Amino acid sequence: MNNGIKIVTIGGGSSYTPELVEGFIKRYTELPISELWLVDIPAGQEKLNIVGNLAKRMVEKAGLPIKVHLTLDRREALKNADFVTTQFRVGLLDARAKDERIPLKYNVIGQETNGPGGLFKGLRTIPVILDICKDIEELCPDAWLVNFTNPAGMVTEAVLRYSNIKKVVGLCNVPVGIKMRTAEMLGVEPERVQIDFAGLNHMVYGLNVYVDGVSVMDKVIDLMANPDNSMTMKNIKNIGWEPEFIRGLKAIPCPYHRYYYKTSEMLEDEMRAANEEGTRAEVVKQVEKELFELYKNPDLAVKPPQLEKRGGAYYSDAACNLINSIYNDKRDIQPVNTRNNGAIASIPDDSAVEVNCVITKEGPKPISVGDLPVAAKGLVQQIKSFERVVAEAAVTGDYNTALLAMTINPLVPSDQIAKQILDEMLEAHKEYLPQFFSAVEA
Ligand code: G6P
Repeated sequence: MNNGIKIVTIGGGSSYTPELVEGFIKRYTELPISELWLVDIPAGQEKLNIVGNLAKRMVEKAGLPIKVHLTLDRREALKNADFVTTQFRVGLLDARAKDERIPLKYNVIGQETNGPGGLFKGLRTIPVILDICKDIEELCPDAWLVNFTNPAGMVTEAVLRYSNIKKVVGLCNVPVGIKMRTAEMLGVEPERVQIDFAGLNHMVYGLNVYVDGVSVMDKVIDLMANPDNSMTMKNIKNIGWEPEFIRGLKAIPCPYHRYYYKTSEMLEDEMRAANEEGTRAEVVKQVEKELFELYKNPDLAVKPPQLEKRGGAYYSDAACNLINSIYNDKRDIQPVNTRNNGAIASIPDDSAVEVNCVITKEGPKPISVGDLPVAAKGLVQQIKSFERVVAEAAVTGDYNTALLAMTINPLVPSDQIAKQILDEMLEAHKEYLPQFFSAVEA
């Protein structure tokens, strides 16, 4: 890394890219990036050009010597990369809309990373990430892979267990979002707040909260028990928790826990939305259209505030802080997705968990939490089993394994309904699931 850092972003045409670029610009003194390669596929060429040119203008405006390259040639880009970030969506938003709509026909939650939708996003994404891993192994074996591609937990799990890449970290903005909102509720600056996070991606709990090192958990529980303080992300309906439930749980659930602890209310709202404003993917399509119109403006050279309509707020902070801490061996604490290694008892050592880690130049070192509270442990274990079975189904293309994954998901009520959803979704996503179809067709 003597001549500056080389970053490669796969899915560089994403509307989120300005977030990342802004994060790199802000940290340039500590993180001297010399090259940023934005990579996409032919279907993403137009978006790549638009957002890539905005990235160039942002760097130019900041007066920094970061060379931004736009390319469709992933292998060319990956050569000697120091960090590879991944933020792609196989099948684009149309595939997500199917993940959201099809399960609703069966009275089952339709969501990007949970239930049948999460399963199918995993099946589409895992083979692609494993392919990228092979390229990394060959072209930049010392690089860190920093993944934000959803379902981030399953993707990290698959990389850890089915590739030779060891230097991988999965990232999510949910913990940062919880921290910001908690600080706001407490009326203190976020830098003074520390939260013990543990669980899985999109299933993480805040187990304790400190201000200046002193636990304020009782106060946080009191605040959270007030439905007016309910916290969420832009993509998840903000329905307040039952106060007694929060007092019983004695932990901060993440916004995604609503799909499990408020399944009927969330399902009802998804059904309503599907008939009115559209599913989240359909709404996001519209937001993206507006964003890309703005990005085209040659006078725009900063991240437009409209990007905040997306669910990924603070994601660049999470990504850039992580890269910064690895590069500078900062040894600060950040919640990331990494190999458990015993940090959470009752989750397999070789599985991905989302947990506070000390971030060193050798990567994240998970901080041991012992066991999860009994009320959280069972659900976390069940979702982890689901994620492991999904990863196996994605790699093998085995129908029975996919059906097993669908059936053991707690949002799916029976094996028969699981089979119906599976069959309809396999057909709908056929184009992106060669592992399930190529052998049959051959
Ligand atoms: C949340 C999640 C991300 C997810 C995003 C979706 O922030 O943590 O993992 O990608 O929401 O946002 P969108 O605007 O695409 O619905």
